[in-house]
Amino acid sequence: MDNEQIRSRLKASGQDHILDACEKLDPARASSLMEQASRLPLESLPELIERFVCCESGDSSSTDISPPRVTMPDPELAAALTERGEQVIREGRVAAFTVAGGQGTRLGWGGPKGTYPATPVSGKPLFRVFAEQIEAASIAWNTPIRWYIMTSEANDAATRAFFADNNWFGLPRTQIMLFPQGMMPCFDMHKGNVLLEAPDRLAMSPDGHGGSIAALHASGALEEMSVLGIDTISYFQVDNPLSSVIDPMFIGLHADPERSSGEMSSKMVPKRESGEKVGVFCRVGDHTRVIEYSDMPQSLMTEVDDNGRLRYDAGNIAIHLLGVDFARRVFEANELPWHRAVKKVPYFDLETDSQIAPESPNGVKLERFIFDALGLASNPAILEVDRSLEFAPIKNAAGEDSPESCRQAQNDLYGGWLESRGIEVARNEEGHVLADIEISPLSAMGSDDLKSEDLPEAVGSGDRILI
Ligand code: UD1
Repeated sequence: MDNEQIRSRLKASGQDHILDACEKLDPARASSLMEQASRLPLESLPELIERFVCCESGDSSSTDISPPRVTMPDPELAAALTERGEQVIREGRVAAFTVAGGQGTRLGWGGPKGTYPATPVSGKPLFRVFAEQIEAASIAWNTPIRWYIMTSEANDAATRAFFADNNWFGLPRTQIMLFPQGMMPCFDMHKGNVLLEAPDRLAMSPDGHGGSIAALHASGALEEMSVLGIDTISYFQVDNPLSSVIDPMFIGLHADPERSSGEMSSKMVPKRESGEKVGVFCRVGDHTRVIEYSDMPQSLMTEVDDNGRLRYDAGNIAIHLLGVDFARRVFEANELPWHRAVKKVPYFDLETDSQIAPESPNGVKLERFIFDALGLASNPAILEVDRSLEFAPIKNAAGEDSPESCRQAQNDLYGGWLESRGIEVARNEEGHVLADIEISPLSAMGSDDLKSEDLPEAVGSGDRILI
């Protein structure tokens, strides 16, 4: 595309200030800025700005809200679903997919979140935790499970270097594909202008984990999955080491036509308390949705049923299964809504020719959320799971959802495995394990897999057990 074309597209989309910026630059830098501008979704910007940038609207103003239908299989059904799921895995139809584009700002960790040391004894980074699960599952079901990882522009190089330095965690290099997510421009919250980060650079930010659908397409991953006969994507966030990366029972539920269309299925845990910062699954009209904690009206958040249980307690732990055909359809429909986040965005001011660090929010960043795809799925299955087995995210530096709470959750979980094998494990009055215990999925994927010769005789307070 030549400069004249970009010029007229910029004018038509109301972003002529970028042309003014170019006029102040030498030819090389002006051409770099024009090139960045040419990659913006210019034709859709005016509508995007009108709908999502320059207005306050939240996305869920509907009053027709009710709790979702949740599946909690009894042991007999669980066994049948597990068998079905194992068959699907054995046929090589499932891929693991980690979204790891976030920067871990709340945690205060400099590198990509997946490099964070997460396990209680050996301090394994999150990426290794998942890699070992993938290796164990590949061995258990005799099929090389493909692992897709979404990074972002900011952490792609560091993530690739980490994998290379760690020899791809012992997995064949060809089993892993990394790709960056897309970027969206940051806008002036009043005028809708795309902000400049520097005189010759647009201010851009990652397009949210919902951008994973477009990134799966753009990277060729969706295409590759179809070629390899993969029809199910096991999606999970990089921040939760308890994620069961390949879960046969969940996969069996997703693949059971009586219980799911096979388009999208999700896991939930009952919320710890009404204010817990998790999104909540709801029915909105005829669709299943996640309403984010920041968008949930207080009255709904605290509403209880006749048994005193929170009416809206289906907490989103961000573990989903997506059909590959469904993901392609969501990509083609291009209908996932944008969510508006008002932020302080440092920018270069063209009028004063100066760099501004705003003291109050001035900009809007737009993100898509993966769970909005639920609204496009027919009959999504929501599976209730046990928090202590599947959800201990590392998000904050201290307190809830921190490295410390995650370490305790791992100790409690693996302590329970040892107890189920008749081993005495020291616990405090609140029931928390007093030792550090770590069991690699390569040693055991569940308590039944533990080999007697690996087991300690007893676990006392302060012990460190690595199996
Ligand atoms: C998220 C969910 C929330 C859920 C909770 C469970 C959102 C908006 N909310 O909250 O409903 O209850 O997890 O733990 O997601 N990521 C990208 N690219 C991006 C943005 C995020 O890959 O552009 C990845 C991050 O690396 C991380 C995950 O998405 O793995 C979650 O992102 P984060 O913004 O931390 O979500 P939460 O607020 O924790």
